[in-house]
Amino acid sequence: MTRGLEEYQTSQKRWGFCRDTVLPEDRRTNARPDRATKLVRHSVSWETEVAKVVCVLYEDPVDGYPKGYPRDEIPRIESYPGGQTVPSPDAIDFTPGHLLGSVSGELGLRPYLEGLGHTFVVTSDKDGPGSTFERELADAEIVISQPFWPAYLTAERIAAATELKLAITAGIGSDHVDLQAAIDRGITVAEVTYSNSISVSEHVVMMILSLVRNYIPSYQWVVRGGWNIADCVERSYDIEGMTVGTVAAGRIGLAVLRRLKPFDVNLHYTDQHRLDESVERELGLVFHPTAESLVEVCDVVTINAPLHPETEGLFDDHLLSKMKRGAYLVNTARGKICDRDAVVRALESGQLAGYAGDVWFPQPAPPDHPWRTMPHHGMTPHISGSSLSAQARYAAGTREILECFFSRRPIREEYLIVDGGRLAGAGAHSYTPGNATAGSDGAARGN
Ligand SMILES: NC(=O)c1ccc[n+]([C@@H]2O[C@H](COP(=O)([O-])OP(=O)(O)OC[C@H]3O[C@@H](n4cnc5c(N)ncnc54)[C@H](O)[C@@H]3O)[C@@H](O)[C@H]2O)c1
Repeated sequence: MTRGLEEYQTSQKRWGFCRDTVLPEDRRTNARPDRATKLVRHSVSWETEVAKVVCVLYEDPVDGYPKGYPRDEIPRIESYPGGQTVPSPDAIDFTPGHLLGSVSGELGLRPYLEGLGHTFVVTSDKDGPGSTFERELADAEIVISQPFWPAYLTAERIAAATELKLAITAGIGSDHVDLQAAIDRGITVAEVTYSNSISVSEHVVMMILSLVRNYIPSYQWVVRGGWNIADCVERSYDIEGMTVGTVAAGRIGLAVLRRLKPFDVNLHYTDQHRLDESVERELGLVFHPTAESLVEVCDVVTINAPLHPETEGLFDDHLLSKMKRGAYLVNTARGKICDRDAVVRALESGQLAGYAGDVWFPQPAPPDHPWRTMPHHGMTPHISGSSLSAQARYAAGTREILECFFSRRPIREEYLIVDGGRLAGAGAHSYTPGNATAGSDGAARGN
């Protein structure tokens, strides 16, 4: 549905997705409002008139696309911590707070893309050679995928996608793309940096408290009709006074540290980029040069680094053995940063008192994935970055990236992961070149 001008202006102001209002009819010719961000010109520009855009989204709810929502609105967010502005597309064609990340939500993109004459294919059928994604990929110029339901863009698939120019991650974390293959082919990879970082940090805090306080088993006693206080509390502690450390203190990691500060815990971190001294002082942070020295002193460890060749398999038997006995590990970053079976072993032996997170490999996780049944876990499907609040931001950011691409305007530097045959923007800051999609070939083949 295309909006009238009045409705459009109201929606833009109300949700803060534009700093200034630009008339819709001018949106492809006017200069964009200044942003508090540095812009770079992406190397791949649009040369043909219409494009084929293939978008892979997760399935609708089992009871069908929602007819209503528990709340009537979501809060308006104007900018992120540090001043980065929220996505600022010229327009949006969705209602913030509605389900956008499932196939019927279509990220709110269909009116815009079809209005420009582009072909827009949306599917959740992503794995296996006969999958809709694999068939449609053959002549796709743009692929959009969410990390929650990743369309694995392996080297083999990239080689077969001869028209592919742009891979957009609707969210954060582009490890489902073979970044080395994208670098080699000159494909631009962009994501909506910061769109769900705060969402994830909230989930991390929730999971730390859930594990340490033994919330989930206690809840289950209530549902089962019990009043088993001793059963609930025999594994329940306070986090007050504990030492909590994060592996990586980027947008999510730092937000976790800030949120935990009022719990009177000791805060530690490691990162390849050290934080400003003023931030370290404000939060009382202890910096560690390596993950190993961090985990040795922590009662709780949270992982907030991207998956790339340096972090793949980082939490293996060796690193887990360096943790304090009875430590808790929370991983909302990427499943493959942890060795799947080493985590199970550490829980079974008591080396870990609990493990929680929302990231798995592959995704969706098969029904017999051992993390579903290992002891003392608090796993969810990959949802932390796909709250309705987050969806509004990454749908708007995806639209912003598309608008830039089609009108040959620069994509924000902080949205870029790969561009011009190299890591760029946020990718150059947080990733190393190479491929961390090992195993995705099997997942993509449906094995
Ligand atoms: N579960 C979800 O829904 C969800 C949502 C968003 C992001 N994520 C994951 O979280 C990651 C981080 O997101 P962010 O917004 O904080 O990104 P960010 O780019 O702001 O921060 C990443 C940080 O990781 C650090 N880092 C990279 N490699 C490292 C290494 N080997 N050792 C130590 N530090 C290292 C970087 O220096 C950077 O500070 C994403 O890449 C993604 O994988 C998950």
